[in-house]
Amino acid sequence: MTLPISKLPTLLVSSTLLLGLAAEVAAQTDTPTFYADALPVFEKNCVACHQPEGPDVGGISAPMSLMAFDQAKIWAPLIKNALVTGYMPPWGAHDRHRGEFKGERYIGEQEKELLIAWVDGGALEGNPSDAVQVSNQTQAGGTVLPDSGWWIGDPDLVVQFDRPLYVPDEVEDWQPTIEMPVPEGAHTEPRWVSKAELDPGGPWVHHIVSSHMGVGVPGRGPFTYPAGWGVLMPEDPFITVNMHYHKNPGEGTAVTDMTRAGFVFYEDGDVIDHVVETNLLPHRGWTIPAGDPNFEVNNSYDIDEDIYLLSMGPHMHYRGKAMRYDLEYPDGEIETLLWVPDYDFNWQFLYEYEVPKFVPAGSKMHMSWWFDNSKENRFNPDHTKDVVYGPATTDEMANARIYYAPTKTRGIVVGDPIPADVLSKARLAEDTRRARTELLDLSKDDLTWLTEDSP
Ligand code: HEC
Repeated sequence: MTLPISKLPTLLVSSTLLLGLAAEVAAQTDTPTFYADALPVFEKNCVACHQPEGPDVGGISAPMSLMAFDQAKIWAPLIKNALVTGYMPPWGAHDRHRGEFKGERYIGEQEKELLIAWVDGGALEGNPSDAVQVSNQTQAGGTVLPDSGWWIGDPDLVVQFDRPLYVPDEVEDWQPTIEMPVPEGAHTEPRWVSKAELDPGGPWVHHIVSSHMGVGVPGRGPFTYPAGWGVLMPEDPFITVNMHYHKNPGEGTAVTDMTRAGFVFYEDGDVIDHVVETNLLPHRGWTIPAGDPNFEVNNSYDIDEDIYLLSMGPHMHYRGKAMRYDLEYPDGEIETLLWVPDYDFNWQFLYEYEVPKFVPAGSKMHMSWWFDNSKENRFNPDHTKDVVYGPATTDEMANARIYYAPTKTRGIVVGDPIPADVLSKARLAEDTRRARTELLDLSKDDLTWLTEDSP
């Protein structure tokens, strides 16, 4: 496809390109080139992930560097495809939410068209001396992984499995609960978490649930709470995590997982005004008929106190298609808080407000999920089956997790005694997680547990 003159972007990054196309000159010199035209756009929108040794983004890494011409050229047809379909850069919130959520990833229309024109023009190299130095720009947004290897900087506490967990060949779907030992003496009193990061061992970690770290799923970054917002982490020799592994079964597919978690704590004297709470807001009790291309599910939830909404995290599985959160205010006015028109199971974002959103008592949260159980959905594990809510990846879910806190400020000074209600709530969260499932004893994790009746 060549760029039709009527669709000429008004604001082109490169003036040489503009002149070239306007004159309808197809001469090679005027066709966009990698160094003069494409590279600056890649640097701005893509290289945070697409760089040599690309960072681990929630267990997955980008397959190529877009800073190198030879790689960009090989991938050119797929780059065009990823841009046309909106698959890259990865971000789920509709354009209408521009400016609302942290770490949003939108590529400008002109930038997109420029990259497509570069591909259509033959993915030319151009002259390396045309490259503009924009690396400061990429670093500005905190898109470069710090030397510590953690997005949250230098953690105050790191916990990990006792030893690597073996996930054998036959496993397709497996959900063990595991206790990560806290290094001795490293966490002897309750601390307030200001940042937390789960570092899954690989892309076969489908998700991780824990009490203090939120939920780790593919593509989701660390939790960074706003100043004065925190989660209490009671002292405990262990941190319990519900792991969920999902991969193709079969010979040679076994992996070993060494998932880690890192925490940054508040310091004595800091003030916690908002103790973060979360609610999964799951909706069950529906059946998606086999083959149905557009099955809709709805649910509502009453907000009974004034809260600040911090973030929203839609969750469905492979049949998930779209999701929406609509807030109905007490006066009846409705506002769409989040519209994810093209839900992608591989990229489950947490949509965190730049500024926590005030939601008055008496409001109602309306949630809608759409599913595609037809064979047109290429991720569908089986379009001939009715599907209900269930824990396996091949089941479905309709969750609408929210993180929030009451607006009433607590004024808890870090280092002072912790209010009893806060402490008991935090302990209960961890105890419940522990009580709910049988723990996998990692010290017994060797090949002997791998018998005929393994998962
Ligand atoms: C947040 C990190 C991130 C950003 C930003 C990002 N990508 Fe990716 N990209 C990935 C990861 C991870 C993969 C591999 C997993 C996948 O395909 O989902 C990938 C895969 C791709 C693929 C291969 C897709 C396929 O069909 O196999 C292309 C092409 C691509 N990215 C292009 C781009 C372009 C162009 C941009 C910028 C406009 C961009 N990406 C921005 C992380 C990112």
